[in-house]
Amino acid sequence: MAAAQGVLVPAPSRRSEVAPFIVMDVMQRAAQIEAAGGRVVHMEVGQPAAPAPRSAREAARRALDEGRIGYTTALGLPSLRARIARHYRDAHGVEVDPARIMVTTGSSGGFVLAFLSMFEPGDRVAIANPGYPPYRHVLTALGCEPVLIDTDASSRWTISPEALAEAHAVTPLKGVLVASPANPTGTMMAPEALARLFAAAQDLGIRFISDEIYHGLDYAFPAATAAALSEQAMIINSFSKYFCMTGWRIGWMVVPPSLVRAVERLQQNLVISVPTLSQIAAEAAFDGADEMEAVKHGYEENRRILTSELPKAGLPEFLPVDGAFYLYADVGRFTDDSAAFARRLLDEAGVATTPGVDFDPVRGHRFLRLSYAGSAAEMHEAVERIGDFLRRG
Ligand SMILES: Cc1ncc(COP(=O)(O)O)c(C=O)c1O
Repeated sequence: MAAAQGVLVPAPSRRSEVAPFIVMDVMQRAAQIEAAGGRVVHMEVGQPAAPAPRSAREAARRALDEGRIGYTTALGLPSLRARIARHYRDAHGVEVDPARIMVTTGSSGGFVLAFLSMFEPGDRVAIANPGYPPYRHVLTALGCEPVLIDTDASSRWTISPEALAEAHAVTPLKGVLVASPANPTGTMMAPEALARLFAAAQDLGIRFISDEIYHGLDYAFPAATAAALSEQAMIINSFSKYFCMTGWRIGWMVVPPSLVRAVERLQQNLVISVPTLSQIAAEAAFDGADEMEAVKHGYEENRRILTSELPKAGLPEFLPVDGAFYLYADVGRFTDDSAAFARRLLDEAGVATTPGVDFDPVRGHRFLRLSYAGSAAEMHEAVERIGDFLRRG
């Protein structure tokens, strides 16, 4: 802390010194272009363009009309937890005890609860590189050490059992976190790969966290849940993506039995409970599956347009486009500075994308992430603009 003219000015703590999201700069620049009357095709933002299912919005409206919105228990509304448990039975044929389901403020809230309940300060936790930046930033802020394991095509861009064992041999790991489908790559782990990695982690005494936020948005093959493998896997999920409820800030965890009480105590103290209106809406969201499947088919069409048209436009190299709504393109033949390249693509062609450096400090300088959560018309427009931009050089 620094003193200025007798006033104690609080300086930020060291643990708060996490990196900003570079995509925010892209969004800011895109907003400037639009404010000046320009047109931007938005492929930078990782959120659905569609609203929450009608059933969810109607349930929220009814709850508002009824009046009082109070706290719920820290674990969440019992009816919502039971509905989530039913979802595991319906979608995966897995019986999950509703007592293990914890409602959270998005999967972001789930990470904090998972990390705090599973790890001590100084513990090392493996995550895939490239990966979702807040994994490493939240771990760091909580005093843990993220261990980035570089992935490549040989393991379909996920952590292999061998790579996990190798990192563990250097300095022991306490945990490993995986996501399938993943952000930014959009790649998925085959069910056998997930099972093998989980078994390897068990053998090595490494705790397992599975971020399943993009479940439901799987195109290459059905996404497998780690909940089917063992009660000891910590599952994190969310209503943000498949159910198009980013702003409602609601998700859930499936917690190993030995950690339920710890997670509950943390939640009681950190947030008391998750917004009740969002919990009511989320429960009703499960009744809007037909609507959400139609949204998913839209993404599938976008994926088809991009994977068939981008190579013709001059962008032929990208990772397997398995799920979520991301295409991770290798632009190394054009640049070794993806942030500058993304900036030019935005300024000169009006296409907003996210530079890979946000997700991979090592190789991200040659990648761009394109989100295809928009409309088919926008995908065609983006391809045309990208093609013109690359031809101009
Ligand atoms: C892989 C991944 N996990 C978690 C999140 C956080 O989502 P939320 O807190 O809205 O559930 C995101 C958001 O983009 C994500 O991409």
